[in-house]
Amino acid sequence: MKKIERRKWLLFALASVLMLGIIACAKPKKTLVVYFSATGQTEAAAQRIATALGAEIQAIVPEQLYTPEDLDWRIPDSRNQIEEHDRAIRPAILPMDLNTEYYDTIYIGYPIWAGEAPRVINTFVETYNLKGIVLKPFCTSGMTPVDKSVDSLRATYPDLLWQDGLRMNDVSEEEFNAFISKTQY
Ligand SMILES: Cc1cc2nc3c(=O)[nH]c(=O)nc-3n(C[C@H](O)[C@H](O)[C@H](O)COP(=O)(O)O)c2cc1C
Repeated sequence: MKKIERRKWLLFALASVLMLGIIACAKPKKTLVVYFSATGQTEAAAQRIATALGAEIQAIVPEQLYTPEDLDWRIPDSRNQIEEHDRAIRPAILPMDLNTEYYDTIYIGYPIWAGEAPRVINTFVETYNLKGIVLKPFCTSGMTPVDKSVDSLRATYPDLLWQDGLRMNDVSEEEFNAFISKTQY
């Protein structure tokens, strides 16, 4: 009798563990917005997307912040010029509290620098496991469209699921809504 009771309890415990596992697996994955912004434009764009989606948002922060001199492309040896001319540079970023397993879509925002995403974006992409996650790039810029930067990210990381990007400056309500709703897997 006692043995039967024990077996019952064991079965109950096993079933509970199984149920918990099923619930954990079935938990819907979420959307995250990450961005790098040196002077605030891309941060505002990222906040707009996160607010519209009710999504979590995290900044990609360089260990060494960019000073106005660092950002001045008229200075030949400025940090941005050095990074522009050396595609292998990966500026260190502060560690993020980020487990990418929880997300199925990540919006990645950046300012256009010399037609492309700044190298800190490469650091981010190479630091976190983004395989199988839908990646939606967005940018702000003076005038350059987003496409070339996305082509370059696609060429550098062909195994990742890059979607078409959006330049957020003066974006129409229609374009914005399409960008935040359309996710092709
Ligand atoms: C180093 C540097 C390079 C830039 N290169 C371009 C460019 O090639 N094309 C462009 O339209 N804007 C360019 N810009 C302007 C930024 O993309 C634009 O101001 C952006 O909105 C800044 O975003 P942030 O405030 O989030 O840093 C550049 C700015 C900097 C600092």
